[in-house]
Amino acid sequence: MPILQSCSKILLGFSLISVMLISQINAQGQMNFPVTVNITSPVTLAVQPLCGALSSENSTEVNTGILLSPTRTIVAFGDSWTSNGANGTVPVPPIMWPPSPSAGSQFTENRRASNGFIWVEDMANELSAKLLNYAWGGAVIDNLAYNTTSPLNATGVPRTDFVAETSLFLQQGRFLDALVPNETLYTISFGINDDGQFKLAGGNMTLAYETYITKLGELQANGATNILVQGMYKHTPEIDLLQNQIFAYLRESNAVNGTNIAFVNLERLFDTIASNPSAFGYRGNATCLISANTIVGGCNDPEHSVFWIPGHPSQNSHRLISEYTMAVLDQCTV
Ligand SMILES: *[C@@H]1O[C@H](CO)[C@@H](O)[C@H](O)[C@H]1NC(C)=O
Ligand SMILES: *[C@@H]1O[C@H](CO)[C@@H](O)[C@H](O)[C@H]1NC(C)=O
Ligand SMILES: *[C@@H]1O[C@H](CO)[C@@H](O)[C@H](O)[C@H]1NC(C)=O
Ligand SMILES: *[C@@H]1O[C@H](CO)[C@@H](O)[C@H](O)[C@H]1NC(C)=O
Ligand SMILES: *[C@@H]1O[C@H](CO)[C@@H](O)[C@H](O)[C@H]1NC(C)=O
Ligand SMILES: *[C@@H]1O[C@H](CO)[C@@H](O)[C@H](O)[C@H]1NC(C)=O
Ligand SMILES: *[C@@H]1O[C@H](CO)[C@@H](O)[C@H](O)[C@H]1NC(C)=O
Ligand SMILES: *[C@@H]1O[C@H](CO)[C@@H](O)[C@H](O)[C@H]1NC(C)=O
Ligand SMILES: *[C@@H]1O[C@H](CO)[C@@H](O)[C@H](O)[C@H]1NC(C)=O
Repeated sequence: MPILQSCSKILLGFSLISVMLISQINAQGQMNFPVTVNITSPVTLAVQPLCGALSSENSTEVNTGILLSPTRTIVAFGDSWTSNGANGTVPVPPIMWPPSPSAGSQFTENRRASNGFIWVEDMANELSAKLLNYAWGGAVIDNLAYNTTSPLNATGVPRTDFVAETSLFLQQGRFLDALVPNETLYTISFGINDDGQFKLAGGNMTLAYETYITKLGELQANGATNILVQGMYKHTPEIDLLQNQIFAYLRESNAVNGTNIAFVNLERLFDTIASNPSAFGYRGNATCLISANTIVGGCNDPEHSVFWIPGHPSQNSHRLISEYTMAVLDQCTV
């Protein structure tokens, strides 16, 4: 009996493994995992991009030639607004019931700072693209750029940065996907934690900028020809300046290397939501939960909330980020 049991466990184990392998093989250029999503959302995108010119002095919404329909792979870098907790591995779908502050897991792995899919997952699902997601909560551009992270290390909170995310991708990304250049889109979304750390104790934004473009250059040297940068969702002087400098680099990349580049201004989306949430269908509590640690005391209608945990979009807002990002790619071609 114990033998039979362990046999059937082994058999079960085998069949699970083969199912996983099959879904991974099928995932080449297709879905990463079976997705069952409640696609009914009461909120709608009530703002359109404000397209600008590639010659613009400051960052503005443009797309010099990134095509959505051929995209089979998305490689994502960023922070908790982009992380699905996968850190370059195959992600598991979000666990949405019972509700938790971080859909997917209470543990660090597979954690999403939302109540469902993150924007880049929505976008990958929409395009039937495979997602290699290196984003991680709390990430900055460069730990060496801020006094809190180094060398003074005032807060002592170890953070991931764009440097580490790029390094991991360059080590293992090519084993996970063919990374066909004209079918692969690279998305980069930093700024929130850079702003936070800079405000705590200062830092060197010149170094942050130099690191940012050095990492973009490394990605380009390794085959990236489609690069999308998301600007931060709110306006702050030092990040505005940084984004203007990065925009200038993207323009140069397009001129010098023929890189297809796009810039998406999330500040426009979130400013418009803040000024008229009901136009989008939001109502009730703008932020549902009172903290990132508990659902106790949270709102009873998260489907109509802009944010799930403080400072982190709800799954329905993530869907709008995805739609807005794709709207820029569709509408702002120059
Ligand atoms: C799907 O979402 C809609 C809108 O939020 C909600 O009313 C409905 O109960 C959801 N259905 C399921 C099966 O979760
Ligand atoms: C560019 O942004 C700076 C602030 O970062 C602002 O002072 C300047 O007026 C802007 N230029 C244009 C053309 O909008
Ligand atoms: C991508 O490039 C390859 C050859 O480099 C070509 O065969 C393929 O058609 C291209 N795909 C798209 C979507 O342009
Ligand atoms: C991501 O994975 C790499 C390699 O396994 C590891 O070094 C790094 O610590 C991971 N990052 C996080 C935030 O877990
Ligand atoms: C900063 O603090 C973290 C956590 O205590 C530690 O792991 C790291 O080594 C420190 N870094 C420096 C440069 O002192
Ligand atoms: C932060 O570090 C920079 C060097 O990168 C230094 O010039 C500056 O004084 C520091 N700021 C504070 C508030 O300690
Ligand atoms: C800031 O970083 C830049 C680029 O690495 C460097 O040239 C400059 O000396 C740094 N400034 C300070 C105050 O450390
Ligand atoms: C052009 O591409 C190379 C790698 O092929 C990269 O090192 C460089 O930084 C890129 N320059 C620009 C302006 O994009
Ligand atoms: C949600 O809004 C209601 C009504 O304004 C308020 O009583 C409640 O405290 C809010 N809940 C949270 C979690 O903010």
